[in-house]
Amino acid sequence: MKPKAVIRVLETPADLFRAAAAEFAQLATTAIQDRGRFAVALSGGSTPKSLYQLLASGAIPGIAWDRVCFFWGDERHVPPDDPESNYRMAKEALLSRVPAPTGNIFRIHGEEQSAASAAEAYESDLKKFFHLGPGEFPHFDLVLLGMGPDGHMASLFPGSAGLEEKKRLVVANWVEKFKTDRITLTLPVLNHARSVIFLVSGAGKTEALQAVFSDTEEGPPAKMVSPENGRLLWLLDRAAATDLPAQARAG
Ligand code: 6PG
Repeated sequence: MKPKAVIRVLETPADLFRAAAAEFAQLATTAIQDRGRFAVALSGGSTPKSLYQLLASGAIPGIAWDRVCFFWGDERHVPPDDPESNYRMAKEALLSRVPAPTGNIFRIHGEEQSAASAAEAYESDLKKFFHLGPGEFPHFDLVLLGMGPDGHMASLFPGSAGLEEKKRLVVANWVEKFKTDRITLTLPVLNHARSVIFLVSGAGKTEALQAVFSDTEEGPPAKMVSPENGRLLWLLDRAAATDLPAQARAG
């Protein structure tokens, strides 16, 4: 029986990021104790930047950064120094400010000529790191996700082909609304994580959250995230959580 999602509503964005940092540190400590390392897939977008900056500030002491292995849930089809790059955002906000060995940083090579070859390369990195056999999926200790106003997560957008992928670990996914390819982990990878945390802030996300937590079967991509044997935590601030359906508030 899959554990139900846990929803925590924090008053302000600052409270949200503090709660997320505490969760990150707790999961890292447990994973490092149990397995000697913490494999985390970072989210892109703007919301997590404040979390990364808070983590880099040392607000939560005791994280063994040399045991943290950094991956990404998705990347834009751009070079690593591009303002759009999720790697660049995480590097500036966190990776350049903590003692993370470069050998523990597994970025998606968005600079590749084709997004498909970037996806293949990243998929083989995952297979190597997690020692995966055919048909196996990686168990990230944590997959950190944001959610767009349309209810997308990573680069799995409504109606995009990547959302239907059941076998591959990583795909190049054409995003019609942006007229561009993205490189993204697939839904089965998200749902094999030990822990998934959504970090959602701001009034712009209320409609998507209502759709996610409505009691209909159908819904936006984020509604499809349900780790098979893992924990799903939604960290929302008050602005995003306005008008959540009652069954969601009951938690
Ligand atoms: C990306 C992210 C994407 C993001 C959402 C929310 O590459 O942009 O992976 O899924 O998390 O679009 O973005 P904001 O946090 O900027 O609202």
